[in-house]
Amino acid sequence: MTATEDLIATADAHSAHTYHPLPVVIATADGAWMTDVEGRRYLDLLAGYSALNFGHGNRRLLDAARAQMERVTLTSRAFHHDRFGAFCEQLAALCGMETVLPMNTGAEAVETAVKTARKWGYTVKGVPAEMAKIVVAGNNFHGRTTTIISFSTDPETRADFGPYTPGFQIVPYGDLTAMRSALTENTVAVLLEPVQGEAGVLVPPAGYLPAVRELTRERNVLFVADEVQSGLGRTGRTFACEHEGVVPDMYVLGKALGGGILPVSAVVSSREVLGVFRPGEHGSTFGGNPLACAVALEVIAMLRTGEYQARAARLGERLH
Ligand SMILES: Cc1ncc(COP(=O)(O)O)c(C=O)c1O
Repeated sequence: MTATEDLIATADAHSAHTYHPLPVVIATADGAWMTDVEGRRYLDLLAGYSALNFGHGNRRLLDAARAQMERVTLTSRAFHHDRFGAFCEQLAALCGMETVLPMNTGAEAVETAVKTARKWGYTVKGVPAEMAKIVVAGNNFHGRTTTIISFSTDPETRADFGPYTPGFQIVPYGDLTAMRSALTENTVAVLLEPVQGEAGVLVPPAGYLPAVRELTRERNVLFVADEVQSGLGRTGRTFACEHEGVVPDMYVLGKALGGGILPVSAVVSSREVLGVFRPGEHGSTFGGNPLACAVALEVIAMLRTGEYQARAARLGERLH
């Protein structure tokens, strides 16, 4: 047995088979390159499912993480810590918004967006109790929690995991007529990926996102952009929505926000929208922890330069 076969056999024997990885066992990585246990080098075109926008082992991010690890890594939100305010302020500024609610994984941030939109619907928009609807797109991928898979159209993701959470309506991605007829007085949000990532990197027809933006504004519905995968420099802009000049009511961010070092996610919106929460109504032990904030602050500082977005645009063109 080779070292690769041996390591894979151990993993297969003791892990739940929720993935079907390529038969490659990575030992180290640097920049865009990974090296396996046998010394073979690979160009990493997957980039941690888009969480490695700044490459493996980015020096700036590792230094920020190391420095913070020597100071304090976790306080819980029962206390303030000295990185939290700056993280929220600077992430909100990067998004051109006001308020941040930090979580850890992308799916948690999507769940947070769902809760926010429902609570906003009941307490601000005046939707009758238990009637809130969120419109989503077919072929979406927003994560794998029980609520999120409830509005998936992928049988692999969904089958045998019911009963499903109600309150979602699915329309074809890119179909404005379907979107228009799906919106009712009880619709609290439209939740879309500005580019559908897991569906195969599908860009919607030109004009679709601006039209959804206009429609949601007219109907007093929140436009929630899940930029967990498409955001933070991935498409050559800070946010994929920018390609169409769209500013949503809420960004859902994750993946690259943690610099490929640790999971960091967030919902970013206005004071009015995120102001619906009261203490105790939402939270997370690790959400907004000092290490996460320190790494994310460095990610934000790097994105502020515009250098990474420009490089992604340039290299993207060349790869095409
Ligand atoms: C658009 C989008 N939203 C949410 C998620 C879920 O993120 P996580 O795997 O961190 O829970 C993903 C993951 O691929 C994603 O692509």
